[in-house]
Amino acid sequence: LFAGAADFLSSAPSVETLPPMRGHEIAFAGRSNVGKSSLVNALTGRNTLARTSHTPGRTQLLNFFDIGGKVTLVDMPGYGYAAVGKAKVEAWTRLIHDYLRGRANLARVYVLIDARHGIKANDAEVLDGLDTAAVSYQIVLTKADALKKSEIEARLAATRASLARRPAAFPEIILTSSRTEEGIADLRASIARLLSE
Ligand code: GTP
Ligand code: MG
Repeated sequence: LFAGAADFLSSAPSVETLPPMRGHEIAFAGRSNVGKSSLVNALTGRNTLARTSHTPGRTQLLNFFDIGGKVTLVDMPGYGYAAVGKAKVEAWTRLIHDYLRGRANLARVYVLIDARHGIKANDAEVLDGLDTAAVSYQIVLTKADALKKSEIEARLAATRASLARRPAAFPEIILTSSRTEEGIADLRASIARLLSE
């Protein structure tokens, strides 16, 4: 799946301007700066496909990428970044919420959690929304390179425990680093498996 071409398709500032549905979509959601755009680049092996930045709030639109003409990856704006101002936070929150709940061809949401920080209150709110709407999601821990092995084990255990009572959560957690490419092959395999179901 990821051996073929990956191309930018389009950007949408609102749910009224989403591209037409074609095949399955896989969305990447998470707090600002968690590493969504970097992960899209690592998955596709194209370092400049999605725009990344040290500064939170880089991705402000829903960005759609075609993978081999078979599946669409969606790089989402991050949530929880207050410095962009209240109006923008509200607009992004609505965009994320409306897209995640209303997209019929959305096969799975990968919810990215920074391995250093774990699930925060605003992550829990997003997960609550996905559970309520019965939208299937899986947790991806990011930036594994920034932790010691013992810290990673503790984070995995705590995250696993908090997923036990979440009905729409896929039980497996994928540990990744876009920097070292740890777990990237696992994530590719997860997506390929999902699409062959
Ligand atoms: P927004 O679009 O603002 O929501 O951010 P994003 O989630 O798309 O994050 P982005 O991919 O732009 O990365 C944010 C920062 O985290 C950048 O400085 C990246 O270099 C850094 N980063 C991303 N992935 C990793 C990783 O695997 N390890 C480490 N150490 N840093 C990473
Ligand atoms: Mg981004």
